[in-house]
Amino acid sequence: MRTKRIIESDFNTDEAERIWWNTNAGIIEKIWAQGIDMQHIIRLPYLKKLKTFILKNATSSPVKVLEIGCGSGWVCRLVADENFHVIGTDFSEGQLAIANNMAKQFNKEKYCTYELADASSFKKEVDGVVIHALLHHLSANELSKFFEQFAQLKTGTKVFVYEPLFFSRQDGKTSLTDKLLNISVKTIRTLSFKLASITGKKNAALTDAMNKINSDAEQNGWYISPKEIPFVPNELENYFSPHCTLQNKYIVNKTDLDIAQNLTMNGIDKPRFMFSGILIPLACWFDKLSFKGKFTHFLNPHQHLFVCFEWIKK
Ligand SMILES: C[S@@+](CC[C@H](N)C(=O)[O-])C[C@H]1O[C@@H](n2cnc3c(N)ncnc32)[C@H](O)[C@@H]1O
Repeated sequence: MRTKRIIESDFNTDEAERIWWNTNAGIIEKIWAQGIDMQHIIRLPYLKKLKTFILKNATSSPVKVLEIGCGSGWVCRLVADENFHVIGTDFSEGQLAIANNMAKQFNKEKYCTYELADASSFKKEVDGVVIHALLHHLSANELSKFFEQFAQLKTGTKVFVYEPLFFSRQDGKTSLTDKLLNISVKTIRTLSFKLASITGKKNAALTDAMNKINSDAEQNGWYISPKEIPFVPNELENYFSPHCTLQNKYIVNKTDLDIAQNLTMNGIDKPRFMFSGILIPLACWFDKLSFKGKFTHFLNPHQHLFVCFEWIKK
């Protein structure tokens, strides 16, 4: 498995990544983007925060937001409206085809437009930039080029970032409270998985497709897609901090995402109240408390967590 960022990717690796995204767009949509009900449960809370952050003290209306590496567009589409206009870019035609269809399906085409573009070059005259799980797909060289462009964004541009980070386990003695919290998170996760398998029906096609993605990754030594690798602690901050001031940083989507993906694998797209109203909110609450202490219980080495950053361009 890849454990280090590629320094300089070659043509073949870049092509492998592009082909991977075009080939797997539909599967990734199911397991990562998931359906609208699941998005409302596990994504909307932080996407609402994203919107509040970008709209706060905005000098233009509607705000113009660039989403780089937008994939199927669900992230900003969920919060796009007459005050929040989005231009999504991605280098995968397959992903953008889904994005255009979904914008129509949800009557958001007035607020969401999409363009085929590589992340190495992007528009600078925008009020906000959203980067949701893109940067960890770039090599170190591509990241340097990306940040040369990024440096040209106008002062005051709001930048929201959501990326996977390897979580460094904290050493030292775990307190009783931490132990109890960790056990609680683990219990909720296990119980949710059990209930999902009892109340749902395994989606065999999705399971096979995910097994293929995982076995391809194992055979080729990839983390998941050919180029991706989560950031190590401070790596992402080191890229952004010369250009931006950090306003907020928080962890999201650990146990809730695990549960949501397990539900999807069990064919449950519209979770019952037991999941949406009890188990998932409880998991979020315990995760939040656990992260304040030693969140070690079920984190194996090389596990990543998703972290949101709110930056303002200097
Ligand atoms: C993990 S997906 C994230 C998509 C979307 N933001 C989301 O969270 O669902 C990564 C996206 O980055 C795109 N991507 C990867 N490398 C890229 C590049 N060099 N330029 C533009 N898009 C790229 C892929 O096509 C894919 O849609």
